[in-house]
Amino acid sequence: MEVVAHVPVLFQETLDLLQPRPGGSYVDGTLGGAGHAEGILDRSAPDGRLLGLDLDPEALERARERLSRFGERFVLAHDSFADLERVARWNGFAPADGILLDLGLSSFQLAHSERGFGFRATAPLDMRFNPLQTGPTARDLVNQLAMVELADLLRRYGEDPMAKRIARAIVESRRRKPIETTTELAEIVERATGHRRARTHPATRTFQALRIAVNRELEALESALPQAIQVLGPEGRLVVISFHSLEDRIVKRFFIEQAATCICPPGLPVCVCEHKPRVRVLTRRGVRATPEEVNRNPRSRSAILRAVEKLPDAA
Ligand SMILES: C[S@@+](CC[C@H](N)C(=O)[O-])C[C@H]1O[C@@H](n2cnc3c(N)ncnc32)[C@H](O)[C@@H]1O
Repeated sequence: MEVVAHVPVLFQETLDLLQPRPGGSYVDGTLGGAGHAEGILDRSAPDGRLLGLDLDPEALERARERLSRFGERFVLAHDSFADLERVARWNGFAPADGILLDLGLSSFQLAHSERGFGFRATAPLDMRFNPLQTGPTARDLVNQLAMVELADLLRRYGEDPMAKRIARAIVESRRRKPIETTTELAEIVERATGHRRARTHPATRTFQALRIAVNRELEALESALPQAIQVLGPEGRLVVISFHSLEDRIVKRFFIEQAATCICPPGLPVCVCEHKPRVRVLTRRGVRATPEEVNRNPRSRSAILRAVEKLPDAA
């Protein structure tokens, strides 16, 4: 098997913001290839600790090997960051000094997974990060959703202007025979859109949309953010790297709200909300990869990093 390494995105920027230090406790909610985790453990030597979560058991296996030189300094958990607070408390990582969420999927999953994240090779249409997860797979969604629901899903999560046309083509095709594999679906999308776009295959957005829906990625993020603030100790830092405008919008709004001194509806003559800011925003505009990084690692092109620090007196 060809080995595809996952190159961590915005690596230096993430570490500069997290500021790992000896004795610190860190949670990587999306361990993946453990590139960021390794950086955190290196920088927090000799005794900083890291809790790493991933839904993908294969990612955890590989990460365990990569991090083995750190001995007892790390703990891995096959859990979702949607359960961040419970998992962090259970493992003794609350309060934490830093938390990282590097969203989406890893290059390894895209290139190698038999679970159908990519369409270069034929694989069953699955797309669950966690193969033990019950609930619909991508195969279930493409074969069972009504055409309108499918179009809505592709438009919302894939931001695909051809969503309607693709949904119609999928429904027509599955009437003849259920759609089973990644390459079958990619061909249907390619035929429906009538062309290959210059830089990306027309099925890229379809696959992204299905993956986000199968794993309920936006719901997991919305649930994780308040838990992360809760788990952080005073002046602890949360760094989130998103690859999708919907994710980034959720993160940005949440950070603005958490940093605000007032969240009253506009137009009220006086503040009645008594809202207390819990964080200070460290990245006003969001941090993007430099052209050099994009050149080295095209995956970083759509990455946007945002970070906050919990205020010393916040609950
Ligand atoms: C972009 S990769 C992380 C890469 C990592 N930062 C590195 O340096 O290699 C995202 C990882 O998050 C995992 N993941 C996605 N959703 C998750 C969730 N809700 N809970 C835990 N892990 C999740 C994926 O399985 C994937 O391995």
